[in-house]
Amino acid sequence: PPALRAGLLGFGVVGSGTHGVLAANRDTIRARAGCAIELAVVATRNASRARAAMEDGIEVLTDPMQVARHPGVDVVIEAIGGTTDARDCVLAAIAEGKHVVTANKALLAMHGEEIFAAASARGVTVGFEAAVAVSIPIVKALREGLVANEIEWLAGIVNGTSNYVLTQMAAAGRSYADALASAQSLGYAEADPALDVGGGDAAHKLALLAAMAFGGPPRLDAVHVEGIATLQAVDFLHAARLGYAVKLLAVARRSGDELQLRVHPALVPRESLLARVDGRMNGIMVKGNAAGVTMYYGAGAGSSETASAVVADLVDLARAVRGGGQVRVPPLGFWEGVPQPRAA
Ligand code: HSE
Repeated sequence: PPALRAGLLGFGVVGSGTHGVLAANRDTIRARAGCAIELAVVATRNASRARAAMEDGIEVLTDPMQVARHPGVDVVIEAIGGTTDARDCVLAAIAEGKHVVTANKALLAMHGEEIFAAASARGVTVGFEAAVAVSIPIVKALREGLVANEIEWLAGIVNGTSNYVLTQMAAAGRSYADALASAQSLGYAEADPALDVGGGDAAHKLALLAAMAFGGPPRLDAVHVEGIATLQAVDFLHAARLGYAVKLLAVARRSGDELQLRVHPALVPRESLLARVDGRMNGIMVKGNAAGVTMYYGAGAGSSETASAVVADLVDLARAVRGGGQVRVPPLGFWEGVPQPRAA
């Protein structure tokens, strides 16, 4: 079967990781997908990355919109970040009948309803496994593995950067500024790290998790958000003496017709599995009324770790479009939900 041809918008942490995983695992991916997955064209303004891509025979353009509309691609991988150009490009790609894969949680938390409506009207899919807790297949877990459950609550550590900062402060006694600078240099942080430490990134992911778990559109407006910037060394000392770890938790809890959505630093009992999620790792606990509590653990930030999920979405798509079957266009969790939260 012919290759699935992808156009990549952005060649930073996510984009170059995707290129790397597709190249390193090429034969395995082809065997599992049923066809090759080829990076046909990338949009980047970074000269050295452009050169590297061209050496691999990839067409390079500077304008992401041109890649989004490129007649030679079946799927557009959005990895430019932000919510302005990214939204325009994703909507343009959908309008051209192209599938989309994105790791952009801010984009989907803010414009997910519009984007999924456009995709469903056009019969294309929007894959976003990489948008929540990167390496952890939590989108699959909620939409497939736990599909039979009424979800009662979910609670997670879903921002790798802030968890890295908290762990460094608690365990190594490092200063907040020092730990954050190191998370940035390791490529974990958002372009604007205020989103990480302010809780905004965790709120984006929580809005998506809640949409999948409880239905309805992503309700970013309903998330109560507090970050970690005001925590001090003494907080960790007191917490440790009392038997707790300090974690930035994202919690969605349903009680009756109400849904509570919140992100804030919390005291987590040392014996809880969530207290042991350290460094840039993420962990998510989900309570379903049939499955009981299940928990998911893995890297919450990183280049190949994010790419692992991006490529998983590409393989799903390849199987669907090249398998001769109809492409299933799932509502991705954003069906009419039961409990609707009040605005925070
Ligand atoms: N800045 C994000 C984090 C990247 O640290 O979790 C992964 O979404």
